[in-house]
Amino acid sequence: MLKAIVNVNQEWGIGKKGDLLVYIPEDMKFFRQQTKGKTLVMGRKTLESFPEGRPLKGRRSILLTRDPSGLPEAARAYLEGRGEAGTSLEAVGSLKELLALLGTLKEEEVYVIGGEQLYRALLPYCGECQVTVNDCKEKADTWFPDLDSLPGWRRREAGAWQESEGIRYRFTTYENLEPRELP
Ligand SMILES: NC(=O)c1ccc[n+]([C@@H]2O[C@H](COP(=O)([O-])OP(=O)(O)OC[C@H]3O[C@@H](n4cnc5c(N)ncnc54)[C@H](OP(=O)(O)O)[C@@H]3O)[C@@H](O)[C@H]2O)c1
Repeated sequence: MLKAIVNVNQEWGIGKKGDLLVYIPEDMKFFRQQTKGKTLVMGRKTLESFPEGRPLKGRRSILLTRDPSGLPEAARAYLEGRGEAGTSLEAVGSLKELLALLGTLKEEEVYVIGGEQLYRALLPYCGECQVTVNDCKEKADTWFPDLDSLPGWRRREAGAWQESEGIRYRFTTYENLEPRELP
């Protein structure tokens, strides 16, 4: 199943100036646990937001970009098969190509990990979305679609509010009642 995983503030903001709005250690740990050993899908700007543009360890990453030639050296090393074992990166150049590839992975749990452009393009195909909500007041410049008002989506679970380093957050799960079929 295709799933999305995201951290949003209460206005569904997800990022600012190419970075996250807030780093919550407990949420980073949750993200690692959920995605370890899995296949991830991301946009070029999200990959470039990682340290040195390096794909996340121990996972297969599928990257959407129209031009992989401008990627940082650490990313190019993985594209060319010069990366560390157990971690991989491959690039696709169009949404059509990406959907076709994802269609071959229907039996796997595949995570869409951002950013805004990728979430918007792939959300109709996601069966579920793991949303960590935080009360950070930073002004965002990128957003996730508001699942509370998006037709076809409903919140299935909402954990208790917790606090980490002065930021309140909680884990929630939304489900797509009618996910679009991958080709
Ligand atoms: N809060 C969270 O959980 C979370 C998670 C992930 C990211 N973020 C944040 O989100 C922000 C980035 O989001 P974003 O929307 O600006 O960027 P993005 O979705 O990460 O990447 C956008 C790029 O993806 C490629 N792309 C998108 N659609 C394409 C298509 N149809 N065909 C080919 N390539 C396509 C393009 O790359 P090229 O320009 O190379 O062609 C485009 O510039 C950052 O601030 C990041 O920190 C937040």
